[in-house]
Amino acid sequence: MSDSPAHGLVGRDLLALGDLTATEFDHLIESALDLKLRWKAGDRPRPLEHRTIAMIFEKQSLRTRSTFDIAMFQLGGHSVLLSQNYIGWGVRETIRDVAHNLERWVDGIMARTYGHGTLVDLARHADVPVINGLSDLLHPCQLLADYLTIRETFGTTRDLTIAYVGDGNNVCNTHIEAAMLSGSRLRIACPEGFDPDADVLAKAMACGADIEIVRDPREAARGADVLYTDVWISMGQEEETARRREAFAGFTVTPEWFDDLSPRGVFMHDLPAHYGEECTEEAVYHARSVVFDQAENRLHAQKGVLVQLLAGA
Ligand code: CP
Ligand code: NVA
Repeated sequence: MSDSPAHGLVGRDLLALGDLTATEFDHLIESALDLKLRWKAGDRPRPLEHRTIAMIFEKQSLRTRSTFDIAMFQLGGHSVLLSQNYIGWGVRETIRDVAHNLERWVDGIMARTYGHGTLVDLARHADVPVINGLSDLLHPCQLLADYLTIRETFGTTRDLTIAYVGDGNNVCNTHIEAAMLSGSRLRIACPEGFDPDADVLAKAMACGADIEIVRDPREAARGADVLYTDVWISMGQEEETARRREAFAGFTVTPEWFDDLSPRGVFMHDLPAHYGEECTEEAVYHARSVVFDQAENRLHAQKGVLVQLLAGA
């Protein structure tokens, strides 16, 4: 299944999970799971032989950069790494010009940007699929890996209660889109003034998503199947460190919180972690943590995305 391209996904951009149907979202996760199981069984198809992607990074990365690169290699293709230092878009040349060069050479572009609008611009101009490797608004590839982990942990992505505690940031916004597609119940706990994006939330609510925002993180965690957190200070927000540390007091997840979860409840974090802020090191290394399964699954989720968007295109 996985190395044959899916119905509607070939040639498309992946800027937001909210642009997918629930069926496409499920298909990406099942494709990633299938590729993972096949790889582990020694079945190593090369559906992206002679394909190349460009990877553009305006910000730092460990997982996204490594896993896209490794995924392309293991699928038989190749990646070209371009940092903002190399290309200087918006300074040395325009995003439009970068797009019209890259589309002549590569089969897809993965980009990590500050402004989400930069990605939208890139996708508008580039004649090849553009994949969001994280913007200030959304992080779709992360949530695909997370839902693959949820699928493996619970055997399903449906009828689960997910508690996201912390900043209403790019990861939180993408949880909202994922909840809209998966039908899971999402409880978000964030301090006032740090709510998720109003438009992302309004769209999900209009689609009937089951999402509640509370202020008490312990209340959000009670009975949850998944307790998820992310950094209080995202890349680019370093100047707000003092204000944010103060606002998020009481939001540090420790293993004691795990006693309040459902009996099968797990702890998740997309990493990197800022220990002593959103969680402790003990929480990440706890027996109920699946944090490194999430990190591993970035590779397999990336493969699902690359095969479905690029193979056959
Ligand atoms: N979770 C994640 O996207 O990690 P990187 O920033 O290291 O890519
Ligand atoms: N919210 C974090 C996610 C890092 C993967 C950030 O944007 O820095």
